[in-house]
Amino acid sequence: MTALAVRDEAGADPAFRADVLTGLAERQKAVPARWFYDDAGSRLFEDITRLPEYYPTRAETEILRARGGEFAALIGPGRAVVEFGSGSSLKTPLLLSAIAPSAYVPLDISGDFLRAAASDLAAKFPGLPVYPVEADFMREVALPREVEGLPKLGFFPGSTIGNMVPATATDLLRSMRETLGIGALLLIGMDLVKEPATLIAAYDDAAGVTAAFNRNLLHRINRELGGDIPVELFAHEARWNDDYARIEMHLVADGEFSFSVSGRRFTMRAGETIHTENSHKFTRRTSNMLLQAGGWEPRARWTDDAGQFALILAEAAPPRSAP
Ligand code: TRP
Repeated sequence: MTALAVRDEAGADPAFRADVLTGLAERQKAVPARWFYDDAGSRLFEDITRLPEYYPTRAETEILRARGGEFAALIGPGRAVVEFGSGSSLKTPLLLSAIAPSAYVPLDISGDFLRAAASDLAAKFPGLPVYPVEADFMREVALPREVEGLPKLGFFPGSTIGNMVPATATDLLRSMRETLGIGALLLIGMDLVKEPATLIAAYDDAAGVTAAFNRNLLHRINRELGGDIPVELFAHEARWNDDYARIEMHLVADGEFSFSVSGRRFTMRAGETIHTENSHKFTRRTSNMLLQAGGWEPRARWTDDAGQFALILAEAAPPRSAP
């Protein structure tokens, strides 16, 4: 499999260029969040997970530490653990040491990141076969032949499912079901609805790390797509959208001005925004409804002591003729 990113004649990723030019031409300007993660963006994101205001990583880790015995009892030994997006995090080792798996299959679209995470894990768990797969997990993935006959556990932490709108989240859950098969289990992290002030602080920290992460997208556009965006004229904003139960990250124009990207001209009105990220928050019912819509039956659910974050165990149940 190739790790080479596609480049156009100007040395830019054509998919990045297309997404940015299309997104900036829309009435509500927007850039898809996947473009946050260049090297600088990935480093800033690691910093976000350690911020005092950013509770999700700590809350989910707390559950993984505290509930190992219950995971082991419900999941059982001998499963092939398939992680969607290979974590460089603490979370995977916590899960693997709790349940005695028979194999670990990290899936990631970034080959370099994937290989680093896989060798890290292999060193921590000698004797556990690790089969990294470089793939876009938004589509059905062919798993390595070595895990074909094994029962599967999907692992999708970090409330990444919440970064998708419901239609996309449902498509992903359905393709996970295809990838893992009937009878598979899925352990999925979902961040919960809470006081808007707590949520907003988690996405607009006092040290300004999330603001730097958001603005880094503009620096990346300038560098890779020949842009002249005046980055300092954009303010970071995290807002709570109560109708959709989500935090939205925006870049807000401080005044009226124009800029160009790849030779195209764009104008911002004062206060107009570029929408860069959604992070949906769930209740017990909305998390269960989303899972069911994606073909997964919720079987167990754990939260941290403060009730901020949930880990849900769901099963790819066979189709039944329920009313
Ligand atoms: N899925 C996590 C969340 O929504 C992590 C995340 C994705 C994130 N993009 C982010 C966190 C942007 C902060 C800012 O919280």
